[in-house]
Amino acid sequence: MSVALHTDDLAVIGAGFVHLDYAATAPCVRAAADAVTALLPSYGSVHRGTGPRSQTSTLEYERARDVIADFLGLRTGDQVVFTRNTTDALNLLARALPPGTTTVVFDGEHHANLLPWPNPLRLPAPSSPEEAVAAVDRALRDLRGPILLTVTGASNVTGEVWPIARLAEVAHRHGARVAVDAAQLAPHAPVSLAETGADWVALSGHKLYAPFGSGVLAGRADWLDAAEPYLAGGGASAAVGDRIGDVRWATGPARHEGGTPNLLGAVSLAAVCSALAESDRAALHAHEQNLLALLRDGLRRVPGVTEVSLFGADSERVGIVSVALTGRDPSQVATRLADDHGIGVRAGKFCAHPLVRRLTAETGNAGCEGGLLRISFGLGTTADDIDCLLTALTAG
Ligand code: ALA
Repeated sequence: MSVALHTDDLAVIGAGFVHLDYAATAPCVRAAADAVTALLPSYGSVHRGTGPRSQTSTLEYERARDVIADFLGLRTGDQVVFTRNTTDALNLLARALPPGTTTVVFDGEHHANLLPWPNPLRLPAPSSPEEAVAAVDRALRDLRGPILLTVTGASNVTGEVWPIARLAEVAHRHGARVAVDAAQLAPHAPVSLAETGADWVALSGHKLYAPFGSGVLAGRADWLDAAEPYLAGGGASAAVGDRIGDVRWATGPARHEGGTPNLLGAVSLAAVCSALAESDRAALHAHEQNLLALLRDGLRRVPGVTEVSLFGADSERVGIVSVALTGRDPSQVATRLADDHGIGVRAGKFCAHPLVRRLTAETGNAGCEGGLLRISFGLGTTADDIDCLLTALTAG
């Protein structure tokens, strides 16, 4: 008899798809949908009204903030700011950097963590976690003034896990701060600021089974409180005088959450965080690693398919694998998988062009402008889904 891996709260909504594109958008789970359905009858204005709808909505919005703060292991003085997604969260942090901040970033990042930074020092993507730590140590030795190291928790291309705690330790030794793009890590593994020592973490609801348009930037409040509001307007302003520029801005999360917030996005994301926090994450991890082994073993047997990796075949990974295809165009293969077999994967460069160019070249497919084929999975994925993909890929 098979034992359920999790409660119904984490069951994926929707059947009949072999969806292997979780890294782009994960399906909605019941906890997220139920939270939205439960709130809709009393849905109303957050922080803007005294009526019962407004009171309930404000309470639920702030409760969601607290749940997410717990989920991400926030420390005293840290805060959760709701954003639209990870890109939005990292752009917010980029706008809040103190003047003269140098940002240190590896060129293997997703564009969301590569492009927002003013004055970046770009390091070549490392070949191992140890090399990443050593490269940061070397780079930070010569830098002065405020410094931010910003790094992914898990690559959206290779699924490889980055050594966040060790990077935070070395960065802090040099007086630098650390932001983590956890868009791909958080759906697969616990992410805690208290445990890793990182200063900020950014993530997206649509990759965390809560596709209602919310994201989060969580972490230290000081740089954010000192920065210009991200969205000037109502909610961000505490008092406005008659003269132009006579504004006292709010502090705390409200400073950067101008306009009516996305209540349903926040509440659905918090519901998933709660359900994950209550689940047996070790069992979920073990299941995911079994599927990963099945997938990678199978891919090795498909002619013309080469897995790509920065850190090597034995590195720690989440449920994301990308492959180079010899003599086949990845987007044509992806289209055929969808049209002929009902399988959803993603082909291309996955908003990580420098990394995909490098990895493609390393497999001897430098001229392959079509990039790679990516398979990514999570809650609800079964061994049958992986078999189905492998059979279809082998068929040609
Ligand atoms: N960042 C998403 C991906 O990697 C969209 O597919």
